[in-house]
Formats: sequence, C-alpha cells, structure tokens
Amino acid sequence: MKLTNKRYYFDYNSSSPLAKSVIEWFASGDFFVTNPNSLHTSGKKSLKYIRETQTYLFDTFQLGATHQVFFHSGATEGINTFVINEISTGDEEKHLILFETDHSSAYKIKNITDQYKINLHLKTLVNSAGELKTDELIRFIKTLKGKIIINYTWVNNETGIIWPLDEAVRIKQATGAFIHVDATQSVCKLKDWNLLSPMLDAYTYSGHKFGALTGVGFSFYKKDYPIKYLVNGAKGVLHGRPGTPNTTGIYSIYLALRETIKKYDHDESLAAINYLKDQLDNLLKNHGYVISKNSLNCCTNTLSLFFNAKKGLDVLNMFDMNGIEVGVGSACSSGILGPNRVLIAYGVDENKSNNSIRFSFETDLTMEKAKTYFEMIKKILLKAF
Ligand SMILES: Cc1ncc(COP(=O)(O)O)c(C=O)c1O
Repeated sequence: MKLTNKRYYFDYNSSSPLAKSVIEWFASGDFFVTNPNSLHTSGKKSLKYIRETQTYLFDTFQLGATHQVFFHSGATEGINTFVINEISTGDEEKHLILFETDHSSAYKIKNITDQYKINLHLKTLVNSAGELKTDELIRFIKTLKGKIIINYTWVNNETGIIWPLDEAVRIKQATGAFIHVDATQSVCKLKDWNLLSPMLDAYTYSGHKFGALTGVGFSFYKKDYPIKYLVNGAKGVLHGRPGTPNTTGIYSIYLALRETIKKYDHDESLAAINYLKDQLDNLLKNHGYVISKNSLNCCTNTLSLFFNAKKGLDVLNMFDMNGIEVGVGSACSSGILGPNRVLIAYGVDENKSNNSIRFSFETDLTMEKAKTYFEMIKKILLKAF
C-alpha cells in the first residue's frame, strides 16, 4: 500500500494503516465522549456501540453459544490475562508450555514464572518448514502430571507459517490441556480464518492488525471460565474488566473488520503471495532464500527473506532510503536486534539469525499489485548484492 507520505508500506504485521471506514468515521467528528458505564442517554449510546461490536464479533466468529468476549488494550494484555490466570490459580501441579516461535508477548512470560509454583517448558518442536510436531508434543504432554497450559500461535508473525487450528483441537482432545490461541495474525490471512473451534479455551486478537486503532483488542473465552483481569478497579456494566472501556477503539474494530472482510479474496491473495515467493526465491539464487518456501501451510500476506551474507537491518535501511518500509525479525524493546529465536528454532545458525527481512502486505493483495511490488523490490535487492 502507498501511504499518504508517498512511501510504500509492507509492514502490516506490525501495524496496519487505519481502514478507510475508520478514517471516514473520524472525519465525521462523531466521537464517543461519554462513558459507556454512565447511566444517562449519552452513556447508553456509547454502550450501544460496544454491544453492536460484540454482536458483530459473535456473528463473524460464530462463538456466541459457547464463549464470551472481553475488550482489552491489545493482544499482549489478552495473552497475559489467560496465561497468568492459569499459572496463578489452583493447587495442582502446573506445566506451562511456551514455544521458541511464540511472539514475545507470550514468550516473555517465562521471565515471571518463578513467582508461581509451576514447571516451565520452552519448546522448539518445529521442523525446518516451521510446522509443529504435534504428535511429539502430545507424547511429551502425556509424560507430565497436573494442569497443562499452552499458548498456541495460529499464524506466525515473522514467517506467516500457519499451525492449523485442527491440530490445536487434536492436542486438546488428546491431553485436556488449557489452550489459548494467539490469533493476532489470523484475520483475513488464511482460509476459514473466522471458523473458530468451540473446544479451545480462549482466542486473542489486536485491532491494529486489521485497520482498527492501536491499543485495543479482544479475546474470546469459555462462558464458564472464571476470568480474573490483570487490572483492579470498578467493574464495567458490559463485562468485568475494570476501567472505562475505549469505546472509540472498540467501535473501530467493528468498522475495520467489516471492511477488511469485504475486501479479502483468499484465492487471489494466495496466488499473489505465492507469485512473490517464487519470483524472489529465484532472484536470490545463491544469495539467500524465501524462509517459508518449504512450508505447505502459509498465510496470504507474509513472506520473509533470508540472506546468506547480509544483515537484515542493513537491507531494511536500503529499502527505507528508497521509500519502502519492511520489517526485521525479533526487535527487542530498545530497538537493538538480539538473536532471532524464531529462525534459530527453524535451524538457522545463531550468527546468521538476523540475516532476514519480512514483507507483510495488505490482506487484499492481488496479482496485479504483486507484480508491481516485485519490480520495486527487485530493483533494491539487486543493488544490495
Ligand atoms: C502473533 C502476535 N501475538 C501477539 C502480538 C502482540 O500484539 P500487541 O502488540 O497488539 O499487543 C503480536 C504483535 O505483533 C503478534 O504478532
């Protein structure tokens, strides 16, 4: 997508630009200044907009019969809520399974686990194509006693590799584990992205990954789940998460999701991303490769390139100087790149784990756009070698 400052933006997995319908709504000036917890007419109007969003989410994901939803500040809060709930409650022995390929919002929970009486298992368990070795995971879980807690990343933010939801269901059926699905990168990026299994315990999303505002997201969880929120205070009227709900942000989820769904054509985007992967893999030849090229199950907007002898950050800077914005692997909070544990999990040598860049395109990627983008990317990559 071309931004208003004439730069090309290929970093949608970090944050998607606002959906047109959200921008138009802002331009209309009809903001929510009232608190949905207030009992006057204007407060009730805000509440009505949150309810409308809730209903839309239940209709879209068809989980209304088994799950409820709560709005939060984004996937980081959603993931932390469920994992910390599970590791902090109950007297039985507990095992938390996190994967080296998880996003930091789940992975970094490892740093606080010594506050709780639990066993932490950091697992790689992927083959070189990034696919989860489900049978091995199930066999491992069966050697453990007590409660098992798993964060299951549906779509990997760096590589676009999909771990099918059916596999999570299979783990649930075989082991009874509590499974939280990190669904942050799934919206309009794979077939049946909205068909959620009622068997799985919780699902988490962030609005800004599909054109809503940043700082707002939502999670589904089972109706009988005794949720405890990370923040304390007065409960809201709609659901128990304390604090005044961000009505503007929540309604932007409704507008952006509706627009994104209308524009998404799975088959068209899949053909377009596969075209880009083939062309770029050919172009790189002896200089590197497309990271997910051997994976049969990938989403429709993401591709990462590995370079044999170039740092990703250097290549990112070349793109940046040419007006194109791309992403690099695992940036830590200071902005300095540490080793990329996701690529290391796929078998890449630690010293070369930062030799990659990521392109994540708009979800309505078409073949026509892919051809244009390839020519632009090619020009810069040829200069880089
Ligand atoms: C897979 C995945 N999970 C969780 C998150 C955290 O989302 P947020 O930063 O909106 O809290 C991200 C963000 O990039 C992500 O890609």
